[in-house]
Amino acid sequence: MTGAEAVDQVRRLRPGPLPRHVAIIMDGNGRWAEQRKRPRFFGHAEGAKAVRRVVTTARESNIEALTLYAFSVQNWARPQQEVACLMGLLFDYLGEERRTILDNGIRLQGIGEIDRLPGFVQKKLRSLERESANNEGMTLSLALSYGAREDITTACRRLATEVSEGRLRPEDITPERLGAQMMTKGLPPVDLLVRTSGELRLSNFLLWECAYAEIVVTDVLWPDFQESHFFECIDVFRSRSRRFGLTGQQVASIESVAGADRA
Ligand code: IPE
Ligand code: IPE
Ligand code: MG
Repeated sequence: MTGAEAVDQVRRLRPGPLPRHVAIIMDGNGRWAEQRKRPRFFGHAEGAKAVRRVVTTARESNIEALTLYAFSVQNWARPQQEVACLMGLLFDYLGEERRTILDNGIRLQGIGEIDRLPGFVQKKLRSLERESANNEGMTLSLALSYGAREDITTACRRLATEVSEGRLRPEDITPERLGAQMMTKGLPPVDLLVRTSGELRLSNFLLWECAYAEIVVTDVLWPDFQESHFFECIDVFRSRSRRFGLTGQQVASIESVAGADRA
């Protein structure tokens, strides 16, 4: 799909704001392969193609931040062969998509316990992070060896150290200060959280950042996820009424004032 077609596709949807930050739990690779009586590896390889599609589509749709759950801290406990296959695919992805990422002004970053990844993957990731650091088009965060509880714990430990060294008072700890210690610092909060393969759980993903995210679950297995599914998720997002704790009436009056200001 070209950039112009993507923009057109977005325009045809229900009008409304775009999510600034989209996060996706890319699930269902194994089941996709099992349905075809193929090894799980086959599903992961096909899933990597869906990653390429969604990154391009999100960029062309002017999404500010896209965060993809590629490998959780808990996924290390999978069979060693499967872990090795995922690391190999990640290495290939970073190599093959380098040009596309740089040419499209995408800033790429890894979030998670990156130093647990094999050296050859770390090297590739760090070099693309450096090369893309000044890009301003879209921030693509790959969650790798990522766990939200682990990230929150590390952030708390950092603030606790500051307190114990007398550099911070406990009463000065705010959600903003804690959030600024997390690996997602600088990104807007997640507006839209998508999970594929029909599972209704968060699996330790962005627990803090998703405080007010709209959650969309689709039965589509990740390797089958197409541009059209991405646009459908955006459309569902736009159909939601986000209230952030206010009443519907309050939200309506804020929106009408904002509408008048724009006119
Ligand atoms: C998601 O697909 C990819 C990773 C977790 C790395 P799964 O491998 O979890 O696929 P299912 O859930 O077994 O179908
Ligand atoms: C979540 O999927 C992790 C990723 C998509 C990388 P899992 O397949 O690991 O999650 P559970 O085990 O079903 O909760
Ligand atoms: Mg799974």
